[in-house]
Amino acid sequence: MGFGKVGVVGLGTMGAGIAEVLARGGVETVGVEINDAALERGRSGIEGSTTRAVTRGKLTEEARDQILGRITFSTDFGALADCDLVIEAVPELIALKAKVFAQLDEVCRPDAVLATNTSSLSVTEIAAATSRPESIVGVHFFNPAPVMKLVEVIHSERSRPEFVAAVTELVGDLGKVPVTIGDRAGFVANRLLFGLLGPAAQLAETGVAKEDIDASLKAIGLPMGPLTLMDLIGLDTCLEVLEAVHADSGSPRHEPAGILRKLVDEGSVGRKSGGGFYTYD
Ligand code: CAA
Repeated sequence: MGFGKVGVVGLGTMGAGIAEVLARGGVETVGVEINDAALERGRSGIEGSTTRAVTRGKLTEEARDQILGRITFSTDFGALADCDLVIEAVPELIALKAKVFAQLDEVCRPDAVLATNTSSLSVTEIAAATSRPESIVGVHFFNPAPVMKLVEVIHSERSRPEFVAAVTELVGDLGKVPVTIGDRAGFVANRLLFGLLGPAAQLAETGVAKEDIDASLKAIGLPMGPLTLMDLIGLDTCLEVLEAVHADSGSPRHEPAGILRKLVDEGSVGRKSGGGFYTYD
């Protein structure tokens, strides 16, 4: 099965990145947001990202315009009615995801595949919000989606194997590296990665300088230090992932540090809010 037209619900950091990846891959894409302001933020994020690529000489203006021309934007779920695949990328709140999937269940074609970009919630539980749990799969991109190669494709207890295979094929066609795995908290990559990020935040809490923590791991080859990376991911998302993985693993490595909770409570959730462990312009 091919996916000629793909919807993305939620155009925050991840959704906008995923829509860009799809459009760059030649896929007709429909981006849906909850209101005009959020839609405009998503649209300008994609325009900004592709225009930066033009400035860096990685894309011609013509190619950028073609990419942008493949994306239509709407605040109406009805715009997803003829999509072959819809990828949900709204915040990591199970009640919100359940509401979105119940709406998708109503508007999408019966043969459409419905995917969630969740990084920490159970795909099986999300699928239970629909009358067609066999049509739900996980497709977990990494931030920044246009750059990161890995995409985890998650099959729930009920996902139809041919849907999982089709999504895996699409991910490969988009130039990404798909890894197909089962449904468990943190899947594979976040379970491992947050075994490093959790202790980094715990060390910062004990008074170790954040610059030293970051410099140490950059010097052994990571592209960015763990606290800088958490700011990039979003501290709210990091907290959600750590809570979900910790509840499953029970490992002290995954226990969210108090400093992380404090920053999130203050609204300092990383780059997207102008500050987290560090401050940003
Ligand atoms: N959108 C699109 N492209 C971006 C981008 C963004 N937000 N950020 C960087 N890029 C592109 C740049 O345009 C540049 O592209 P070209 O080489 O084609 O010119 C390339 O990435 C490198 O960027 P920079 O030179 O500006 O900066 P850098 O070399 O320091 O790389 C980085 C930046 C790609 C983010 C790199 O530091 C990195 O790989 N960091 C680690 C990121 C990571 O581990 N992500 C996974 C997080 S875990 C997660 O997301 C899962 C979850 O569920 C929480």
